[in-house]
Amino acid sequence: MKTILIVGSSRGIGLQVAQQLTAARHRVIGLSRTAGEADTVHHNTDILNGELPAIEETIDGIVYCPGSINLRPFRALKADDFRNDFEINTVGAVRTLQQYLPNLQRGNGPAVVLFSTVAVQTGMPYHASVAAAKGAVEGITRSLAAEWAPKIRVNCIAPSLTDTPLAAKLLDSDAKRQASADRHPLKQVGNSAHVAAMACFLLGEEASFITGQIIKIDGGISSVKN
Ligand SMILES: NC(=O)c1ccc[n+]([C@@H]2O[C@H](COP(=O)([O-])OP(=O)(O)OC[C@H]3O[C@@H](n4cnc5c(N)ncnc54)[C@H](OP(=O)(O)O)[C@@H]3O)[C@@H](O)[C@H]2O)c1
Repeated sequence: MKTILIVGSSRGIGLQVAQQLTAARHRVIGLSRTAGEADTVHHNTDILNGELPAIEETIDGIVYCPGSINLRPFRALKADDFRNDFEINTVGAVRTLQQYLPNLQRGNGPAVVLFSTVAVQTGMPYHASVAAAKGAVEGITRSLAAEWAPKIRVNCIAPSLTDTPLAAKLLDSDAKRQASADRHPLKQVGNSAHVAAMACFLLGEEASFITGQIIKIDGGISSVKN
């Protein structure tokens, strides 16, 4: 049994990760602003404001889920859009990892899972701000994977559009869902179970030879034309 800290366990991909981990009898310490229904222990926390809760116990894995989809033409993006996206995607992850590194260092096969987006390694219009913030996350992934090897593994998942509350506006009609499915070579809309399964794999012993990777879960959109 592992103890996994999930920031953003209340909905979306983080909730799925919590559900899959608790179903496999792992303990989940959840942090988010609203309660998480699958957590073993929950701390109501805004990851960007105030002190993060002190946690005494050993942590075997950290998953950082808060993020943004702020899609606008470049000329409409304000400097504050870039700052806000950087705060929630990047600074929040840094605060989390700095606060709980001592707990993680005592862990059994400890691992970190962060989230990027397919729009970092594949250029997509209107993604400049989120791509900038997530590009930083990918850099942190590889830097920490090097700095913390061999004890702690650090990997990152880069999803395409995934059916979660964050993406609700982009998938709120049958026409939008069909258009999203059609854009992907695998002709479906990504869901949080697809992505959570990879997160759980990366946290586990089966992934013990994997670190510093950015793993795309994207229906083939970044690498296949058909
Ligand atoms: N969904 C997509 O299409 C998609 C595509 C590419 C990449 N991603 C990335 O995948 C990751 C997960 O996305 P998702 O779609 O599952 O997001 P989501 O549905 O918005 O869920 C985000 C989770 O983070 C928590 N959270 C947000 N702000 C927080 C804060 N300030 N302090 C503490 N907790 C906070 C939310 O809970 P509370 O509101 O209760 O705090 C929620 O549990 C993100 O990094 C996202 O950028 C998603």
